[in-house]
Amino acid sequence: MKQIKIIGNQTLTGTITVSGSKNSALALIPASILCDEQVTIDNVPKISDIEALNEILTYLGAKVTRENGAMAIDSSTIVNKEIPEEISKKLRASYYFMSALLGKYKKVEMYFPGGCKIGARPIDQTLKGFRALGAKVIEKDNKYTVFADKLIGARVYLDMPSVGATINTILVAVKAEGETIIENAAKEPEIVNVVTFLNNMGANIRGAGTSTIRITGVNYLKKCYIEVIPDRIEAGTYVIAGALIGKNLKIDKIIPEHIEALILKLKEMGFDMNINPDNLIISTKNNLKPIKVTTLGYPGFATDLQQPMTALLTKCNGESIIDETIYENRFQNVPYLNQMGANIKVSEDNRKIIIKGETKLNGAKVKATDLRAGACLVLAGLVAEGQTIIEESEHILRGFEKIVDKLQAVGAKIEIEEI
Ligand code: EPZ
Repeated sequence: MKQIKIIGNQTLTGTITVSGSKNSALALIPASILCDEQVTIDNVPKISDIEALNEILTYLGAKVTRENGAMAIDSSTIVNKEIPEEISKKLRASYYFMSALLGKYKKVEMYFPGGCKIGARPIDQTLKGFRALGAKVIEKDNKYTVFADKLIGARVYLDMPSVGATINTILVAVKAEGETIIENAAKEPEIVNVVTFLNNMGANIRGAGTSTIRITGVNYLKKCYIEVIPDRIEAGTYVIAGALIGKNLKIDKIIPEHIEALILKLKEMGFDMNINPDNLIISTKNNLKPIKVTTLGYPGFATDLQQPMTALLTKCNGESIIDETIYENRFQNVPYLNQMGANIKVSEDNRKIIIKGETKLNGAKVKATDLRAGACLVLAGLVAEGQTIIEESEHILRGFEKIVDKLQAVGAKIEIEEI
């Protein structure tokens, strides 16, 4: 097991460069198998979730070459066979192989995907998309067999703007006969990155980034190149680190528009920031105003920044509120923050927290229960008095490339060890 150790209260100054987006790369890699020629995906983050996907690619027989941040994928050698549970359950994004294999071979067999334990996370909307295009779905003992003689374009109305269901419906529709229209689609930038990739291959997709996406099926997808967009959640997490304990901390290689909701909330708290086309500079300050945050689909406040933001709200003078509208179990970091000295109450329905501040945090031995809860505890450890030890830090490495190196480079006393 890995643990991160932090000696807190060290001012952070200098530049942190953001890596490629985890949630974009996790969709681009499975999407690549729809291509009839080789593709190149650049700016791929070096994180354990990518290794898990690469394991599935290799298991299926694709040829993968990697150089620096680029991944060349030739899927012409793939054999469409059942994806075993032990590799599909490592992450949620494994289910993008379900739609890509179905879209390419009209048949797929795989088990229910894994992912952070932050709620039930059903896949009913993805299956709804498959069925709408004419596929049959058999679910038995957590294994899905999905097949179709033909995939025919259809209108798919999503009950909620699910990121995964939007991407899965696009991947199954891109080579289907005729037009598919997705309504109430999610609008996340990662979806736009995936659609740009597919259109670079010769697909015919319009409306990505809006709630109505139109896909006209094509027969052939050609060789192409795509760059993974910057990780807006990694960017937002480091911006919050700067708000907590930064002095002119520069977060570089970002798209500020992608974290607009966060920037507006920081301004509400009283922060000034120097925002430039591809970076942001922030310093900490006192007398922070308490705020209310409601997590929403993009362009609303990202649920993946909710837990990191909680660490910052412990510094406000007064009562802040967070409403978590996306997941039913995303406050597992709260008991550990309270153990460190915070004063946070969780509502009975586990959908709202009230954070009373300002409270001083003290170092403690805590545990990362999921990726973003772990990120929150790293931020708390950076401002806490004394030493913080974060057990099960593997969760954090799933989504943050070189987090210890990047923070050490701007002055943090942080290390990671195997125990
Ligand atoms: C993506 O998950 C991200 N993961 C999540 O990031 C992120 O929290 C989420 O989008 C929302 O922004 C990846 O991209 C790999 P959803 P996804 O489908 O696609 C419910 C991180 O920390 N729902 O938009 O799984 C679902 O249970 C991760 O990087 C259904 O009920 O999210 C959830 O409550 C965590 N049925 C809500 O909708 C469905 O068929 C949003 O889920 C699909 C979703």
